[in-house]
Amino acid sequence: MTDGTSGGERRTSLHGFWSSRFTFILAVTGAAVGLGNIWKFPYIAGQNGGGAFVLVYLLCVFGIGLPIMMSEILIGRRGRRNPIATMQLLGEEESGSRAWGLVGVMGVMGGFLILSYYSVIAGWTMAYVVKALSGAFAGASPEALSDQLDGLRGSVLQSGFWHTLFMGITVSLVALGVERGLERAVTFMVPALVVIMLILLGYSVTSGQFGAGLEFMFQPDFSRLTGDSILAAMGQAFFTLSVGMGSVMAYGAYLPQETSITRTSIAVVSADTAIAILAGMVIFPIILSNGLDPTQAGMGLIFKTLPLAFGTMTGGVVFGPLFFLLLGFAALTSAISLMEPAVAWVVERWHISRASAAITVGSVVYILGFATVLSFNVLSGFTFWQGTLFADIDYLTANIMLPLGGLFITVFAGWVMCRNSTADELDEHAGPTYRIWRFLAQYIAPAAVVVVFLNSIGVFD
Ligand code: TRP
Repeated sequence: MTDGTSGGERRTSLHGFWSSRFTFILAVTGAAVGLGNIWKFPYIAGQNGGGAFVLVYLLCVFGIGLPIMMSEILIGRRGRRNPIATMQLLGEEESGSRAWGLVGVMGVMGGFLILSYYSVIAGWTMAYVVKALSGAFAGASPEALSDQLDGLRGSVLQSGFWHTLFMGITVSLVALGVERGLERAVTFMVPALVVIMLILLGYSVTSGQFGAGLEFMFQPDFSRLTGDSILAAMGQAFFTLSVGMGSVMAYGAYLPQETSITRTSIAVVSADTAIAILAGMVIFPIILSNGLDPTQAGMGLIFKTLPLAFGTMTGGVVFGPLFFLLLGFAALTSAISLMEPAVAWVVERWHISRASAAITVGSVVYILGFATVLSFNVLSGFTFWQGTLFADIDYLTANIMLPLGGLFITVFAGWVMCRNSTADELDEHAGPTYRIWRFLAQYIAPAAVVVVFLNSIGVFD
């Protein structure tokens, strides 16, 4: 039996365990790979001028995101409860303060907000499966495709319908408890998505602007890097890795004790990054070869540009629907992870069934989602803070809540938890990877988050 400060091995999860290290990798990969890689990364990178942004993004992914992912998983496994209860429990154990539970509370709220808009965009990808099947892309001009997207998002009824359907599917799967089965679907779904993207890459290579696309993406032009675009790069790193709000902490709670957190995290982060970069390599050449401007394209980017490729390439009638279907699947496994902290909390706190918890949480998220649905029609003219309500929710969650949550998590793992506890979980007492993790978690990640925040509000100008 261990002493009071290292109780990890005595605890057991109330929700069962992943059956193997492999299922866990699949689950976390499923959580990480989603709209963030394929829909969000290209348009944010475009908006922020490409090259230099991508470089900052990569630095954030490996220097901040990776150590925070490891911190989240180790905290989750040690606490073995929902993120709020885990942070309270470990907070008490390691520092005598249950106030750390507030980090979990912020995470649960962040998950609600992110999922509310995530579901709307995922709904559009499902709408695009139908559009692709009906042949709507064949030979369509950029203007016609732009009108098609405006038709969909401009209609409360259509956008709302697909949001309803996507949330309905997500809640049903969580309620039925088949997520674990779904993680197995990731085994072929992520590779299938990669295969289609490689086919699209073949199209991009022959688009005539491949070199220009790569140059836009990889040639750093630091004059385009503002404080806000550095913040956006950091926010995107958190978003794409699903860290900063307890999703992977919740998943870590179900992780068998013997699995290597370090190796798992490195695998997931590498796969996630490779997929985002691949998406960029596909999309930028297509934008440029159609005479469009990547810095002006905005959040409708993939919906307006990828159909141009599907509409002209050989086999596009097959690859088009398949691509949007697989993207919808990728979004589903991410959506499930966004619900998990809240659902696990409701189940443990109120002792109700997983099904009731999923329906309760899902209903709140569903209603919140209409803020995003309405952002592109009824409320499109209203600017609240950063722009539309959608832009505000996105900015608040990705650029503020996730980095802030991540900051607290890494400070907790690096400074509040005693060395024995973290070394125990990372199972590398004085090994080099443990020392690298600890250095990143204690110094680099917290300092970077603080510096990026301060920089974005102009402190260093
Ligand atoms: N990472 C997912 C994506 O790229 C989205 C996501 C799932 C997420 N769980 C999360 C983002 C937790 C932030 C926090 O699409």
